[in-house]
Amino acid sequence: MAKIRHGFYLPHADPVLPLVDAFVAARRPTDPLLCLRPAAIAAAARRFVEAFPGDVLYAVKCNPEPRVLRALWAGGVRHFDCASLAEVKLVRAQLPGAAVHFMHPVKARPAIAEAFDRWGVTDFALDSAEELAKILQETVPVGLVGDPPALGLFVRLALPKGGAVLDLSGKFGAPPDEVVQLLRTARPHAARLGVTFHVGSQCLDPPAYARALALAAQVIAAAEVPVEIVDVGGGFPVSYPEMTPPPLGAFLEAIARGAENMPRGTRLWAEPGRALVAGGGSVIAHVQLRRGSALYVNDGVYGNLSDAGTLGFRFPARRIRLGESEDAPAEICDFTLFGPTCDSADAMNGPFRLPADMREGDWIELGQLGAYGACLASRFNGFGSAQMIEVGDPPMLPTP
Ligand SMILES: Cc1ncc(COP(=O)(O)O)c(C=O)c1O
Repeated sequence: MAKIRHGFYLPHADPVLPLVDAFVAARRPTDPLLCLRPAAIAAAARRFVEAFPGDVLYAVKCNPEPRVLRALWAGGVRHFDCASLAEVKLVRAQLPGAAVHFMHPVKARPAIAEAFDRWGVTDFALDSAEELAKILQETVPVGLVGDPPALGLFVRLALPKGGAVLDLSGKFGAPPDEVVQLLRTARPHAARLGVTFHVGSQCLDPPAYARALALAAQVIAAAEVPVEIVDVGGGFPVSYPEMTPPPLGAFLEAIARGAENMPRGTRLWAEPGRALVAGGGSVIAHVQLRRGSALYVNDGVYGNLSDAGTLGFRFPARRIRLGESEDAPAEICDFTLFGPTCDSADAMNGPFRLPADMREGDWIELGQLGAYGACLASRFNGFGSAQMIEVGDPPMLPTP
């Protein structure tokens, strides 16, 4: 079976699961509906794992849904980057064979201790001497006799603000001279030592990785201690309306170029989130009122559409109206969306491109929401209940 949507030829990705349109026609959902595409997630994961010249750690924060974790596993992902103890426990419960890495540079002491003692986590990120001390104190059992634990210690390097839609340079990471000191201090305690960084999320600039790797190489050379791993973080982009990023190959080439400056034998890691799961999720919202070019819908920035608010993300949108084929030619207009809460900030300027005759009772499918969508939803104003189903549809936009 094949479908034509948004001008692209897209195969029915999983012929066993229902399609979105059939589900909406049968159930007529009036609460937001999350549509998960496991086949699309597994395919994106497989592609990344096969292409990346090192280990691929999925950034669990991006979408911790167990069905997503299982789809990633099916796609060959065996490593998981966790930001919290809850994520560590989740991955251990869902995927007992997975390698778990605790990559948040600032952790609570009990979280470090429990991750290590109870859940067998030995890899930890840090960006300060204080955090290094915490990790060492919380992972050495009192009265230890014999060898200290075989820790993996990963020092996060701060990067200058780069060409990413979402800058992540403001909060974490030590400047280069501090990283040099931290590598030296951590070395005697580490079975494996690494440098990690993040170029920012939805990075549109492949050379950003090469520049970051060049800086990491300088820092490693200055530290004059062996470093086994360089973790290039996440940031790999996906398509959004009017935003077609360079292909994955351009990023991997930049990484390969940057890695040439590394000491021989340095292993590469990556921590992609968005690139693996964004295309694997969409949200079905229901129109409750139309006022001019504004549509009041049942999901919003306090629900599954957070990034459409202040961050101004645009998502691919299509109308679902019972009894009408989406292939029928329709005049397309720009719409803004208002979410269901009483807060004026619950507004999504988009614009979202939809048929000109949108009206109350229509559904809107918003795509590319498998990343940073449902995991950011709150119960504000009593809203936030959403059903999740698995569908066989392909992503709403092609993978770059
Ligand atoms: C440490 C770390 N690694 C990986 C990611 C995933 O980034 P992305 O979704 O841009 O690939 C994030 C996102 O915030 C992060 O903070």
